[in-house]
Amino acid sequence: MKISFSKPAETTEGALVAGVFEGRVLTASGQRLDQQSGGQVTRAMASGRFTGKRDQTLTLPAPSGLNVQRLLLIGLGKPEKLDPMAAEGFGAAAIGQLLTAGDKQVTILVDAVDGMGLSSAAELAAHVAAGAKLRSYRFDKYRTRQKDEEKPSVSKVVISLAENAEAKRRFAKLDCVIEGVFLTRDLASEPANVIFPESLAEQAKGLAEHGVDIEVLGEKQMRKLGMGALLGVGQGSERESQMVVMRWMGAGDETAAPVAFVGKGVTFDSGGISIKPGANMEDMKWDMAGAAVVIGLMKALALRKAKVNAVGVVGLVENMPSGTAQRPGDVVTSMSGQTIEVINTDAEGRLVLADALWYAQNRFKPKMMVDLATLTGAIIISLGDHYAGLFANDDGLAEKLAGAGKAVGEQLWRMPLDDPYDKQIKSDIADMKNVGGREGGSITAAMFLKRFVKDTKWAHLDIAGVTWAKKDAAVTPKGASGFGVRLLDRLVADHYESA
Ligand code: BES
Ligand code: MN
Ligand code: ZN
Repeated sequence: MKISFSKPAETTEGALVAGVFEGRVLTASGQRLDQQSGGQVTRAMASGRFTGKRDQTLTLPAPSGLNVQRLLLIGLGKPEKLDPMAAEGFGAAAIGQLLTAGDKQVTILVDAVDGMGLSSAAELAAHVAAGAKLRSYRFDKYRTRQKDEEKPSVSKVVISLAENAEAKRRFAKLDCVIEGVFLTRDLASEPANVIFPESLAEQAKGLAEHGVDIEVLGEKQMRKLGMGALLGVGQGSERESQMVVMRWMGAGDETAAPVAFVGKGVTFDSGGISIKPGANMEDMKWDMAGAAVVIGLMKALALRKAKVNAVGVVGLVENMPSGTAQRPGDVVTSMSGQTIEVINTDAEGRLVLADALWYAQNRFKPKMMVDLATLTGAIIISLGDHYAGLFANDDGLAEKLAGAGKAVGEQLWRMPLDDPYDKQIKSDIADMKNVGGREGGSITAAMFLKRFVKDTKWAHLDIAGVTWAKKDAAVTPKGASGFGVRLLDRLVADHYESA
């Protein structure tokens, strides 16, 4: 789907899309369409319940006086509430309705209005385009028998406004981040027979062409480094575990401390010997989503040439039961030297992150570190699929993250990270155990990670509930959401880039 920006001109093809404010208030271009159609737009709105409230839509097929297949009206709500996210919702709603409706071309009319929550028509248009593109994502590579009417029909989206050149320039920046989101969605969507530790590392290597420096550590190197926690998780698998280190040095000062992002990359989580029940086990192909977000984020930062030094570290393993698998009760020694009694082999993500976090902070001395992981089912019980869990040892970092999340619509809810919970992971024979019981399961998981962070400012995002959308929503079609890429890109842009 190609997106372009052009000056207003009469459209004679496909579908036209116009926004309507609450109270059936047409924008300037909407009023023009109404006139051309002899008042048909006004009459259509008056004939039903469409009042221009956010998310309402009304389709006028073959509108008279207009040379198009259909006119789609989309409610924009109140003008003062028209912010970047609402603008994205507008573009997304258009594509949600039209992508497979039969039209090849969609033209979206964009007008600035007084008092809107965006600085200009160009900014509005750029976000409308971003929403359209985010919603157009499909993962269709394994469908070989798709009927024509099931395939997307829209190949061209035209955003129509006078300030088209400025809008195009602004969209180019957003588009870099969307490319990162799409990479993350692709990787999380792939099945586990295609994406396993080595093939995921291979995918990360693809970022080299954008100027990201890539190193891959195999099991031999990780053993040398003492990463017994991570290696224990992978030891039941036929696939070799990997750790990928990605570096984007965009600050213009090689010596400036980087920001670090660490991802859980369990390419399939069967549970290991503590095997999971069969129902929905296929979901565990996306237990590498934290790693996929870090890879997508590194791509976004590189594409938009972010003025920041950033490192991404992802621990890639497959958690399988076999004769070589680790057993419940095994004790492993992490790179930090701390020993862990593995009570439950299904609490594997924290074991992977223990070594990845330790490695990232010791090697790179980052100014802050954020990890992402589909870590616990308990976070889904706590927060459902609307918020990811945020755990942090630093209030400033927590606030920055929550603010970035709000700005891009990837919301975070702060959870406690407090000493009383630490008791739950005391072991009878080792420094700690890897599970803390059912009570506060996401918190004890975070407390476990905290034991592998020294005095670095650090936050942990438990994305188990938000990584996979069960149904279509605004800018996220059903499936892999890419949650975290736009959030962390925004965090970097707002707080960690040099001028
Ligand atoms: N990958 C899972 C968590 C998960 C569950 C992610 C559902 C997405 C959807 C994780 O490795 C896991 O198995 N966690 C266990 C921990 C328990 C054994 C302490 C859980 O949440 O049940
Ligand atoms: Mn597990
Ligand atoms: Zn897992």
